[in-house]
Amino acid sequence: MIRVGIVGLGFMGKMHFRCYQALDGAQVVAICDTDRAKFEDTGGTAGNIEGAEAPLDFTGIGLYDDFDKMLGEANLDALSVTLPTYMHKDYAVKALSAGVNVLCEKPLAMTVADAEAITGAAQQSGKLLQTGHCIRFWPEYAKTKEIIDSGQYGKVLAATFQRLSLTPTWSWDNWLMDATKSGSAALDLHIHDSDFVQYVFGMPKAVFSRAAGGPAAKEFDHIVTQYIYDDDCVVTAEGGWSMTPGFGFEMSFNLVLEKATITYDCTRDPAFKVAPAEGDPFTPEIASGDGYSNEIAHFAKAVAGASVPEIITPAQSVDSLRLVLAEKQSVSSGQSVEL
Ligand SMILES: NC(=O)c1ccc[n+]([C@@H]2O[C@H](COP(=O)([O-])OP(=O)(O)OC[C@H]3O[C@@H](n4cnc5c(N)ncnc54)[C@H](O)[C@@H]3O)[C@@H](O)[C@H]2O)c1
Repeated sequence: MIRVGIVGLGFMGKMHFRCYQALDGAQVVAICDTDRAKFEDTGGTAGNIEGAEAPLDFTGIGLYDDFDKMLGEANLDALSVTLPTYMHKDYAVKALSAGVNVLCEKPLAMTVADAEAITGAAQQSGKLLQTGHCIRFWPEYAKTKEIIDSGQYGKVLAATFQRLSLTPTWSWDNWLMDATKSGSAALDLHIHDSDFVQYVFGMPKAVFSRAAGGPAAKEFDHIVTQYIYDDDCVVTAEGGWSMTPGFGFEMSFNLVLEKATITYDCTRDPAFKVAPAEGDPFTPEIASGDGYSNEIAHFAKAVAGASVPEIITPAQSVDSLRLVLAEKQSVSSGQSVEL
C-alpha cells in the first residue's frame, strides 16, 4: 500500500483524492491546503466525470495547512501537486528532493526553466515524476493512438482537435483568470491537445498560431494552431475558454486517415466513432474509467514498483510546455516559430 499526500485541495486535488481512494494499492494519508475551509467542503468535484460529484470522506487523514510539516511527518511515498500552476515548481522540487515520488498537474510549470528545475530534481533524487497530461490516458484518445500506431487504416492525412470551455471563474483567488499565474487558456487548457499532438505525431518542425483575447489574457484565450511537419499531414488544434456559460465544455477531434475517419465529440452519442472505408461505422471497445483515474492508477502502480508502459516522460512534459510557449510566440510575432 503506497502512502499518498495531496497538496492543494481544489478542483483537481479533489479529483486526485477520488481516484486514489478507488485504488486498492494506494491510500491518501495526508492533505495540505492553506485554506482550511477546504477540509470542511466534502462535496466532490463537479465536471464531466460520472460519479466525481460523490461526497468525499477525509476521516483518518492528516489535514495540514503547512506543507513542510506534512512532508516531515507523513512519511509519504507519493505526492500529488494539485496547486495553481505558478506554484508547481517550488512544491514539486521540495518533495522530489525529500525523496517523494511526484504526480504534478499539467502544465508542469510556467516556464521551461522552472520545468527543467523539476525534471532536474527528479533526476537527482531518482524518484518518479509524472505530469498530469491526462488526455494520453483518456480512453477514446488512448484507443485512437493505438489505432493510428497499428497502421491498419494507413497514414493520417489530416487531424483537428478542439477543446472549448465556458470561462472558468471558480478557481481559488481567481488565479486562472490571471495570465501571469495560469498562462491563459493556451497554457492551461489548450496544452492538453498540444501534448496529444506531440504524443501521436512527435514534436512538429514549427508552429503557426493565431489567437483571440479573452477574460484572462489580451492575446491568448482562444488559440488556433497549425503544427507543421516534414510530411504533408495537416494537424491543427483549437482551444479556448471564452465560451458562454450556456455552452459548457466540449472536447472533440476529427482524424482523416487513408482508409478510415475517426471522430470523437464528448457531447455526442455515440461520442466515439470509426468509419472505415470498407464496412460499417463502429464504436471501438475502450478501457474503462476516465483519463484521471487511469493516469493515477498508472502512477500508483509505478510508485509501487510494478512495470508500466512508458506513456508520459518528464522530457515530453517539458516539450509540451515548449510547444505551447512557441505557439504563444507565434501569436505575438505573427510568424511561424521553429522548434
Ligand atoms: N488535468 C486536468 O484536466 C486539469 C483540470 C483542471 C486543472 N488542472 C491543473 O491542476 C492545477 C490546480 O488547478 P485547480 O483547478 O484544482 O485549482 P483550484 O483553484 O481549484 O485549487 C487550488 C487549491 O490550492 C490551494 N492552495 C493555494 N495555495 C496553496 C499553498 N501554498 N499550499 C497549499 N494549498 C494551496 C487553494 O486553497 C485551492 O484549494 C493547475 O495546475 C491546473 O492547471 C488540470
